[in-house]
Amino acid sequence: MKFFGYGRQEINRADLRAVRKILKSDYLTQGPAIRSFEAAICDYTGAKFCVAVSNGTAALHLVVAALNLPPGSKGISSPISFVATTNALIYSGLIPEFLDIDPETINLDISQLESSITNETSVVIPVHFAGRAVDVRRIKEIIGADKIAIIEDAAHAIGSEYSYGGKVGNCQYSDATIFSFHPVKTITTGEGGAITTNDPDLYHRLGLLRNHGIQRDPTKLSSNPGPWHYEMQEIGFNYRLTDIQAALGISQLSRIEKIKKRRCEIVELYHKLLSGYNRIVLPLRDHDRNYCFHLFTIRIDFNQITLDRKILMERLKARGIGTQVHYIPIHTQPFYQENFGFSWGDFPVAEQYFNETISLPLYPGLTDRDVRFISEGLLQEVYSEVHESRWSTS
Ligand SMILES: Cc1ncc(COP(=O)(O)O)c(C=O)c1O
Repeated sequence: MKFFGYGRQEINRADLRAVRKILKSDYLTQGPAIRSFEAAICDYTGAKFCVAVSNGTAALHLVVAALNLPPGSKGISSPISFVATTNALIYSGLIPEFLDIDPETINLDISQLESSITNETSVVIPVHFAGRAVDVRRIKEIIGADKIAIIEDAAHAIGSEYSYGGKVGNCQYSDATIFSFHPVKTITTGEGGAITTNDPDLYHRLGLLRNHGIQRDPTKLSSNPGPWHYEMQEIGFNYRLTDIQAALGISQLSRIEKIKKRRCEIVELYHKLLSGYNRIVLPLRDHDRNYCFHLFTIRIDFNQITLDRKILMERLKARGIGTQVHYIPIHTQPFYQENFGFSWGDFPVAEQYFNETISLPLYPGLTDRDVRFISEGLLQEVYSEVHESRWSTS
């Protein structure tokens, strides 16, 4: 039986050729493919600088570390994201804070931002959930002259554009943007991530911290006894991407517009096939906004029907339809409750969304026929007790 995961990579012959070429070359890591991948990301997003790293979590960690945000200060983000988003704050001794979400966009509710900022706030991390771009310009306006950093978490959003124009990742209103290239994401390098920025100092620091904090620039060394010499001037990490991964990334990025188009077509088809059903709330119909959708998240009010989410997901799985829940609100994770005093009830809009949401399969390899099969399977299961009662009375 064919099985549709909620997300899946798409690897073509050009990808295989690109990877094979690197495997036969002199450099498997720290070679020219990394620079080329970084240049391609700059070209595509419009940012001045890019640093490719080993995954999206490393990208977040590195930016927080490179910005030198004070330990004990606070970072504001959305509870509907993967835990990596705010874990990056904790790695550097910052305290995570959350804003509730906008129930329509599922992004953090910017209207609550102004009243949440205090003189302890050092950073805001908007997450472009499912590929729907946050209004970062508005966040910048709210922050005004305050020295508060903005790091965009665009793990879901390479290829999306802001409502005011420009590609996500151009960093017009932020200090840095991070991307993830995990296989379920829009383009993949297996594992991988990248940071874009327009700030040359931040760029140089990111490069140092990616490689143990090791300085090799002779003009910045305290002594220079010979060509072998390097200095570790601060603590860094090994967050390098390999050239094998970078080659895959370059190949994938070269067809991102095609991937984006197909993702949008699938979203449009889901809207066509699933609209008008009283038990299913569809996500905002905003394909005209030039987003590159990463997830298709429907909502079902399970309190209104005699079917719970676990059973629905199991029944769909038995039909070959994989689904997922994006996400368990971060503040409800045991670690966050125990260490930062959060509890259920803190962010009711996010929690209600979590109780109702299911992500349906969305990736370019799905055919229209697959999307029809998934939609029909979903409708049959969601309305199953109606069918059962019809059968039992006939
Ligand atoms: C919103 C968000 N941020 C960050 C990450 C971390 O990316 P990675 O898995 O590449 O470390 C993810 C990954 O799922 C994510 O969804």
